[in-house]
Amino acid sequence: MGGVAGVYVDPAARGRGAASVLMRGLLGRMAELGDALSCLFPTAPVLYRGVGYEFGGVQPRYTYAARDLRALRSLGGDLRPRPADVADAELIRGVMREDQVRHGLCGPRLPSASRWREQLANERMTHYVLDGQDGGPRGFVAYSLADATLTVTDLVGETAEADAALWGVVASGSSAAPTVRAYLDARDPVALLAGTEARHEVQQHAWMLRVIDVAKGVGSRGFSAHVTASAEVRVNDPDLPANSGTWRVDVSEGSGTATRIEGPLAVDGSLPDERLVPGERPGSGEWLVPDEGPVPDEGPASREAVEVGPRGLAALWCGWSMSRLRQSGLAAGGDFDDDAALDAIFACTPFMTEYF
Ligand SMILES: CC(C)(COP(=O)(O)OP(=O)(O)OC[C@H]1O[C@@H](n2cnc3c(N)ncnc32)[C@H](O)[C@@H]1OP(=O)(O)O)[C@@H](O)C(=O)NCCC(=O)NCCS
Repeated sequence: MGGVAGVYVDPAARGRGAASVLMRGLLGRMAELGDALSCLFPTAPVLYRGVGYEFGGVQPRYTYAARDLRALRSLGGDLRPRPADVADAELIRGVMREDQVRHGLCGPRLPSASRWREQLANERMTHYVLDGQDGGPRGFVAYSLADATLTVTDLVGETAEADAALWGVVASGSSAAPTVRAYLDARDPVALLAGTEARHEVQQHAWMLRVIDVAKGVGSRGFSAHVTASAEVRVNDPDLPANSGTWRVDVSEGSGTATRIEGPLAVDGSLPDERLVPGERPGSGEWLVPDEGPVPDEGPASREAVEVGPRGLAALWCGWSMSRLRQSGLAAGGDFDDDAALDAIFACTPFMTEYF
């Protein structure tokens, strides 16, 4: 994922398309570097929509009264989290990975063990772990304290008891820090444990996504293990022409592929010479006529395939339903069966816990 931040144009040069030119250059560069996707937290969404980004999800932050979380301690029973140190980096990474897999989470990054070692050495952060000794549940929490507010950046427990014990540690400082803020999945189990009345403020920071490479974007994404489906999507991506053309998306056993079944569309939407294939530099906009016959053709593409531009493709990838995309003018063509297949394939509620 190519993260974009710090976009800035000199005030004297604003309003003349400079940022759009920079963003287009960046798209080609990300494609060259092999990125599948790109994400950013926008302050000017119109700018990024113009180059194919669309809102994909949010970074939610929940604020709790510490005393309400403190009340969870009794649920934790005998579990006693212990302070963590750098030697716990692998344990924390493993617990986080298993949690992401178990709950089918879509969006949060999995920091490497070395990244965790760096964070564990940061004296401004506090970490506690549950080892899982004697078959007990494992878990960890990472938080910091500033201005009488506790901020939880990660909290993962294998069971309700583990979650409760870890929240209990955080909230044990409730007399000095009455407020707890936490960056969590909207469906984090604390909502079920603590009761919604404990959650008195929710702030959401929306992020936008762009698909940089259709085949990599689908190939590197996870899908529901119980969905076996195929659908055709016709993409028109003027800024990254290597994405343009008709793709067949096949999903089974939790993995997916996107296979080009028809050549690219010209920038004006008309069908160019179908023998064209992308040039050697992805995203450069070059198209070549291959020496060895036509573009691989795996059967006739439906002329009625669902049609999307880069914004519709990004929104689809992030789990927006086809009916919403149609309503917003981000998808056309296809029929009810295509919509049902695409909805089943891409269904997800993505979120981020980090800001950049
Ligand atoms: C935001 C910024 C990078 C835009 O640079 P720019 O060169 O003026 O942008 P462009 O001329 O390429 O504008 C592209 C589109 O975005 C829109 N846009 C640009 N700045 C905007 C803003 N602040 N609010 C709303 N829309 C904006 C333009 O109207 C244009 O839309 P249009 O094609 O429909 O007319 C520039 O104003 C800036 O540096 N701002 C301060 C830093 C900042 O906010 N960065 C963004 C971080 S995510």
